[in-house]
Amino acid sequence: MQFFIDTADISAIKKANDMGLVNGVTTNPTLIKKAGRDHEATIREISELISGPVSVETLSEDAEGMLKEAKTYLKWGKNIVIKVIMSPEGMKAVRELSSQGHKTNVTLCFSPLQALIAAKAGATYISPFVGRLDDISHYGMELISQIRDIYDNYEFDTQILVASVRSPIHLLDAATIGADVATVPPATLMQIFNHPLTESGIKAFLEDAKAWQK
Ligand code: G3P
Repeated sequence: MQFFIDTADISAIKKANDMGLVNGVTTNPTLIKKAGRDHEATIREISELISGPVSVETLSEDAEGMLKEAKTYLKWGKNIVIKVIMSPEGMKAVRELSSQGHKTNVTLCFSPLQALIAAKAGATYISPFVGRLDDISHYGMELISQIRDIYDNYEFDTQILVASVRSPIHLLDAATIGADVATVPPATLMQIFNHPLTESGIKAFLEDAKAWQK
């Protein structure tokens, strides 16, 4: 399973990239707002820093507007993926972008049939939001299993990009189910390192080394 990082924070991206944990980056309007910097400058910087795909979200609600935005975003880097909302207009835009050979990421997916529609439109990635489903007492991971089954049944190439990841358990479940990618907030990525036995093991090794280091 590939790890994308779900942030527009350049220093967080650099930190994770130095550990070899960034196969790609996903952004959205909320993350750009949080980063507090100019949209274009931020995306250009991320795109130079990371060789993998960088998702940039369109803001229009009609296909024509989405395609116009996509044209601009595609100039910001060689690895730009156009993020489009799950809607009838979004699927029109995905169909067109995909026929032009551009990569797309369909966002705000909350049902298996939405994922099927996105795949039929030719989406490169589908982004099911597991955390937001958990928030309303639905099993987010059940959606990932259903999409995996559907895509395998019909041999769709669309990659399952698990989004709205809130904990390492989401990552474990996504990898067990066979999701292609998970996009992870920086703090959740760092949580993977935490284990009391790792911490006590490091402490014991360093303590024992003191006996023979003199
Ligand atoms: O990639 C989409 C993701 O950022 C949404 O996460 O935590 O706002 O549900 P969240």
